[in-house]
Amino acid sequence: MSDEQKNTAPGGQPRQRMLNFHILRYNPQDPESKPHMQSYQLEETEGMTLFLALSEIREHQDPTLQYDFVCRAGICGSCSMLINGRPGLACRTLTHEMDADITLAPLPVFELIGDLSVNTGKWMHGMSERLETWVHTKEEEINLSKAEARMDPELAEQIYELDRCVECGSCVAACGTAQMRKDFVGAVGMNKLARFRLDPRDVRTDADFYELVGDDNGVFGCMSLLACHDICPKELPLQSQIAFLRRKMATIGN
Ligand code: F3S
Ligand code: FES
Repeated sequence: MSDEQKNTAPGGQPRQRMLNFHILRYNPQDPESKPHMQSYQLEETEGMTLFLALSEIREHQDPTLQYDFVCRAGICGSCSMLINGRPGLACRTLTHEMDADITLAPLPVFELIGDLSVNTGKWMHGMSERLETWVHTKEEEINLSKAEARMDPELAEQIYELDRCVECGSCVAACGTAQMRKDFVGAVGMNKLARFRLDPRDVRTDADFYELVGDDNGVFGCMSLLACHDICPKELPLQSQIAFLRRKMATIGN
């Protein structure tokens, strides 16, 4: 049989690939459950994303499979998982860009809810509270004229760029330091502080930021492994933000 015949179904339509999914299953709420890999086969369809594939599997093969999706458009950050060992957004991952064997596992570091579902929200909430990731203004300055003062467009653009973070947790899951230090704020935390440091409405000084990230759970715990920068699905400039914060904090610490 020629290659052309092999790739063509009767009727002349191109034959679809059969995908083999290997998914790490475990339900920590069930004392009987043990972590194990489970395989599923699925015919690939045009434009299939991992979100569509998992939905097919859950709908037609296994209703117990747990995973998270909200927006399906790379905006909410909830579908991050290990895709062939690398953190990424499942809703933005096209199967036709992958081999037919696909391994999926939950992100490490975060509390496991079940199968591919992890509690990134709890981790992000804790980090945000610790780093006080909101604009700090002086009480007397909380009035509309200050809050709505015109911002230089270039600066607004720089802040907007850092605000594109969707808190998917990929940078934390990829980071060696985050795996060793449970209180490490990760690239997501440092990116947030860099963002508030830029914001002219925030009255905090570099010394205040030093209090928040000038230790081993912050900028000095970062070993410049840069997996966060390589992995970020939104391609945020994490490397330059971390380096910038570290230089600033080092000056203050001396
Ligand atoms: Fe981790 Fe990124 Fe630093 S991967 S060690 S936060 S450069
Ligand atoms: Fe929202 Fe993937 S479902 S980022």
